[in-house]
Amino acid sequence: MPIYSINSIIGTPLKTLYLKGKNLLFRIILNFVAAIMNESILLSKTGFDMEKIRADFPLLSRSVNGAALVYFDSGATAQKPQSVIDALDHYYKYQNANIHRGVHTLSQDATTAYEAARATIQKHINAAHAHEIIFTRGTTDSINLVASSFGKKFISKGDEIIVSAMEHHSNILPWQQLCEEKEAILKVIPINEAGELLMDEYKKLLSGKTKMVAITHISNTLGTINPINEIIKLAHAKNIPVLVDGAQAVAHTSVDVQAMDADFYVFSGHKLFGPTGVGILYGKEKWLNAMPTYQVGGGTIKTVTFEKTEYADLPLKFEAGTPHIEGGIGLAAAIDYVNAIGLKNIAAYEHELLLYVTAALEKIEGVKIIGTAKEKASVISFVVAGLHPFDVGTILDQLGIAVRTGHHCTQPLMNFYCVPGTIRVSLAFYNTKAEIDLFIKGLERAIKMLR
Ligand code: ALA
Repeated sequence: MPIYSINSIIGTPLKTLYLKGKNLLFRIILNFVAAIMNESILLSKTGFDMEKIRADFPLLSRSVNGAALVYFDSGATAQKPQSVIDALDHYYKYQNANIHRGVHTLSQDATTAYEAARATIQKHINAAHAHEIIFTRGTTDSINLVASSFGKKFISKGDEIIVSAMEHHSNILPWQQLCEEKEAILKVIPINEAGELLMDEYKKLLSGKTKMVAITHISNTLGTINPINEIIKLAHAKNIPVLVDGAQAVAHTSVDVQAMDADFYVFSGHKLFGPTGVGILYGKEKWLNAMPTYQVGGGTIKTVTFEKTEYADLPLKFEAGTPHIEGGIGLAAAIDYVNAIGLKNIAAYEHELLLYVTAALEKIEGVKIIGTAKEKASVISFVVAGLHPFDVGTILDQLGIAVRTGHHCTQPLMNFYCVPGTIRVSLAFYNTKAEIDLFIKGLERAIKMLR
């Protein structure tokens, strides 16, 4: 399959021509041209080789319910390349020891590997300092840490916190709880029908009372890519810090926390092709230093007496207990893997997949895509008139096709669109147009069976 095909350059104009073309012969010729381009232009500017990439992910070659697996649920968790599996294997076979605690060689080896992983993550998101990278259990844990610690120090009665209508529950509930505790007020940036933020409304919400803006970079349900630089700039003009939920973004786009000037940027390892149970909180040094400890215990201290404890400096101040050592190391291996392909190449290819699946879905009667923002990542939610998403998802599973169905932890968004849930296809760079064809056939079959 092509990754950098002529189709990716002229595919969109071709699609437009096709959709506008009234003449049948004209459409047939365009179809023919498109088919040749999709199937036969195998040149890759980057040497990005789809067969090799798929072979790097052992799980992709298994079958499910007697059919070859089509994995379209990378937004929930991404599959892992062999290099990540090998990093975990290597750690347990040769390095396993507790870190920051031992003079013995193994402990020092494990510490070196863990701190090297922190440096890899720092470089990957262009943080100014390695100590601005805090290892957590995941995005949810990172947001809870900030809401709890920042909230303890900086939020008082009557203060306001802004989130958006498209947030994952993980970026609503910690702030909602904080508001309840502190008698603060949660404000919500509304969206339009396409699933884009109403930026004028956002501007109106920013005030002297606003103490935090917490916003997703890419919506896990709609795929909307938010104008994060502008959001941060507007908040900073009023000295308001911004936390960016990058859980979905990190697998699809490069992130430069200094260029975007985020105060906090959070993400999980497992959506970035790394292990589960490990995540990152990036925070600007000035905030992390000013914030009190969150959880305390082993690893977070300089000295302890029964009278008083002196806490450690960053990053250890926020890393209580034995961490997910192999998780951090595995995440760094995942980042190395992704960088070897290149996030620009990944974004270009995934955009091609997005256009392809969107065009195919639009042709199916009764399908309505939920989330049609101009700026979208390869996450596509849809409903089928008269059918429950669970039923469609169950039949697709029988055909070996894994999609997510339900509210995707965004119930307020489901209420906005007046749907009980959606069927969500979330694509990664290891997916192909051939898989999309199988999915579309499966979906048509499911619709026929259920009607
Ligand atoms: N937050 C993950 C998703 O969107 C689990 O599926």
